[in-house]
Amino acid sequence: MAGTTEALRLAIIAMLTCLLIWSSPGGCGAIASATAQGEDSQNVTEINAGVLLEGKLAEQPDLTMFVQALLVSDTFHVAISRANGGGVTVLAPNNTAFSVFDPAVLDCLYSKPASLNVLSQITKYHILVGNHNATELIAMQTVHADSGLPLHFNLTSRGRVRISDDDGGEAFMTRPDFRLLINSTIHVIDTVMIPPVIESVFATECFAYANSNDAPSSSDAPPSFHL
Ligand SMILES: *[C@@H]1O[C@H](CO)[C@@H](O)[C@H](O)[C@H]1NC(C)=O
Ligand SMILES: *[C@@H]1O[C@H](CO)[C@@H](O)[C@H](O)[C@H]1NC(C)=O
Ligand SMILES: *[C@@H]1O[C@H](CO)[C@@H](O)[C@H](O)[C@H]1NC(C)=O
Ligand SMILES: *[C@@H]1O[C@H](CO)[C@@H](O)[C@H](O)[C@H]1NC(C)=O
Ligand SMILES: *[C@@H]1O[C@H](CO)[C@@H](O)[C@H](O)[C@H]1NC(C)=O
Repeated sequence: MAGTTEALRLAIIAMLTCLLIWSSPGGCGAIASATAQGEDSQNVTEINAGVLLEGKLAEQPDLTMFVQALLVSDTFHVAISRANGGGVTVLAPNNTAFSVFDPAVLDCLYSKPASLNVLSQITKYHILVGNHNATELIAMQTVHADSGLPLHFNLTSRGRVRISDDDGGEAFMTRPDFRLLINSTIHVIDTVMIPPVIESVFATECFAYANSNDAPSSSDAPPSFHL
């Protein structure tokens, strides 16, 4: 298993480097898959599925914040592995969704070791093990995220796909079925979903940190953490 993890890590690092250096999406995919194939791993299919999916995410200029969260928290490959070849569903908040957070809060999430668990709880809340398009999610009504918590899917009277949690939070798909891949699907959503159970940890870890760094006053009043 260590070999698998290392291969995927290398691929992800290659992809991140590529993301930073090149704007050409083709260049990113090529580098990432070459790295994965270079590792003589027994789980090449599983790795390729993860790299392909992450590559598709990384190609989108509107999803860079979410891709960064996936890379930093290093939880994506775990979900891919748990899917055991069956694919995953990714609820990907776009960059506009991340803009409600003070930069100091994001800095805390991405760089403070103690908050990495918080970040991975957040990213795992956006990944469902199993491949489901929007129609299927609405039919299923409730699906557990990889974090173990339930998310509810509903079609609103205006035809939007609504995602809600047990704490009254909600998000909407802005681009349902944005990418339908073999065994995996990406839906773009309008809100970063924060699991109810970690809201207080998030507030303690990151808003205190943001305030102690003389962050802009907007961090004095945490924005709505809810979906
Ligand atoms: C390959 O993946 C499967 C399913 O995730 C796992 O059970 C198995 O241990 C992995 N094999 C190796 C060599 O990592
Ligand atoms: C898709 O999932 C099925 C199991 O649901 C698996 O047998 C198959 O290998 C997967 N295909 C790919 C390309 O991952
Ligand atoms: C969603 O999945 C269902 C069941 O697999 C399938 O019949 C339907 O065509 C899919 N819809 C889209 C938009 O792919
Ligand atoms: C979803 O919609 C159905 C039918 O309109 C409704 O009965 C149900 O309460 C809704 N669920 C949620 C979580 O909003
Ligand atoms: C991005 O998210 C915002 C809300 O956060 C939404 O209004 C917008 O339509 C989304 N853009 C795309 C291209 O999905």
